[in-house]
Amino acid sequence: MFSQKSKIYVAGHEGLIGSAIMRRLKADGYRNIVTRGRGELDLSDSPRVDAFFMAEKPEFVFLAAGRSGGIVANIAYPSSFIHENISIQDNVFEAAERNGVTRLVFYGSSCMYPISSPQPISEEYLMTGPIEKTSEPYAIAKIAGVVACRAYNNQYKSKRFIALVPNSVYGQNDNFSLESSHVMAGLIRRFHEAKTEGVRRIHLWGTGNPRREFMHADDAASASVFAMLNHDKLDNTHYNIGTGEDSSIAELACMIAGTVGYNGEVAWNTARPDGAMRKILDSSRFSSLGWRPQVTLHDGIKSTYEWFLASEYARALI
Ligand SMILES: NC(=O)c1ccc[n+]([C@@H]2O[C@H](COP(=O)([O-])OP(=O)(O)OC[C@H]3O[C@@H](n4cnc5c(N)ncnc54)[C@H](OP(=O)(O)O)[C@@H]3O)[C@@H](O)[C@H]2O)c1
Repeated sequence: MFSQKSKIYVAGHEGLIGSAIMRRLKADGYRNIVTRGRGELDLSDSPRVDAFFMAEKPEFVFLAAGRSGGIVANIAYPSSFIHENISIQDNVFEAAERNGVTRLVFYGSSCMYPISSPQPISEEYLMTGPIEKTSEPYAIAKIAGVVACRAYNNQYKSKRFIALVPNSVYGQNDNFSLESSHVMAGLIRRFHEAKTEGVRRIHLWGTGNPRREFMHADDAASASVFAMLNHDKLDNTHYNIGTGEDSSIAELACMIAGTVGYNGEVAWNTARPDGAMRKILDSSRFSSLGWRPQVTLHDGIKSTYEWFLASEYARALI
């Protein structure tokens, strides 16, 4: 049973989702938590992963380690995205199975779904059509992870592996690098820079019309803990987790500009591609079990910007 005394391994505990899981577990009184930074344990190194699981014998695992990033990073490092994610999940799944882990949460991604999926995207659309080309290596790794969860559960007649599929996650400890950030963190940084440098007009990619669903990392963490606690209600399949609400990129930019206090103009570079016009998950299967997201987009952007201002990213810009 997942309890405050359980031995829990949070892989990727310093990342966006992993650090939110750490905050959540600590707030809920879980104290027996094991972590290793990448410097101490490279999860793509199979013998070291085996040795770690044998020595520590964690009962519950949140696998929030992996390589993720925005479109620019996906285009620049496609082989790293597929190799690192597949090797991390393969090593950790196998070590978890061999060492009797009770339950493991793995994260898929909304980009696993076909580009032409009807909206909102339900779980059954997986592998029903071509996926978006620029994120294909990453998405294929994620599909492999979701299928592996099912395969392990089938072969070992258990429900050990749980696959959750978040949409775009943001929050503190997000990646604000201009080369590899996702849209939310990238926009927060660009508006902040434009404000501090007195730039009167900011140029953004596309038309601003595509709609995206954003979920705060604290909600991804609460869904993850909920899944551990309610595993008996879960079937051997993947579950979408999202807020059920989307915003256009133009609306998002407007909210971020307001939070940051940027008063200049926004110009849309319509020569740049928009990508899919809408990407919203149907999370009704998971929410019907009783889980609800708590963080509004407005509050989430505000707290993320406050975290950004106190972070090394903002200090480096001074
Ligand atoms: N962010 C999203 O919008 C989103 C959406 C859907 C799914 N996901 C998935 O959720 C998981 C967590 O994402 P995230 O956004 O929290 O990522 P993140 O912020 O980039 O954090 C990933 C963590 O994994 C660690 N890591 C990477 N490679 C490692 C390795 N070889 N050995 C050990 N640790 C390693 C990183 O350590 P370093 O910092 O040292 O590199 C970092 O702490 C990923 O599987 C991602 O694909 C994310």
